Amino acid sequence: MYGDVAEILYSREQIDERVKELAAQITGVYQDRDLTVAVTLTGAFIFAADLVRHLPNSVRITFVRASSYRDAEEPQQVPQLDIPELGFDGRHVLIVEDIVDTGRTAVALIDAFRERGAASVRVCSFLDKTSRREVDVDVEFIGFTLTGSPFVVGYGLDRANRYRNLPFVGVLKPEVING
Ligand code: IMP
Repeated sequence: MYGDVAEILYSREQIDERVKELAAQITGVYQDRDLTVAVTLTGAFIFAADLVRHLPNSVRITFVRASSYRDAEEPQQVPQLDIPELGFDGRHVLIVEDIVDTGRTAVALIDAFRERGAASVRVCSFLDKTSRREVDVDVEFIGFTLTGSPFVVGYGLDRANRYRNLPFVGVLKPEVING
């Protein structure tokens, strides 16, 4: 698995440091309010696990599925959402994403939580691929902004459901991507 990686973009140490900073930023905004953290499956599971352990708030956690990618690298136009009925009315919802790419998943999730009566909805994404944005979306908390539009793996992010367990974020070798 490690041999498939061409370049490490963010090391484990850089990620740990940044996640702590993000948590502090989030706490600054929410103060001591109760939070509902909605984690997008599957890519955000590692990021969310690290992030919530740095939050002092009382936190409810739920997992949402938003499938805009299958095994391919091109998104479907409208993400399919699967959101458990936890009760979001009057709650402060923080959506935790692995990466905001076209922005379609984030927009669909924000709309879904607003429709469910959330008191506030904000987005925290580990990565931001701004150059690929297709819809306008406010991502309030961002771990790292990618320059260009590399396809990245690791720290939860996959290619064909592999490489999620890499402890860093990296780019795969061209021969791996092209099969
Ligand atoms: P979008 O913002 O709706 O286009 O979709 C974001 C989703 O696309 C993320 O949650 C990822 O699952 C997937 N994605 C986008 N770029 C990458 C990448 O570079 N590596 C792995 N998954 C990606």
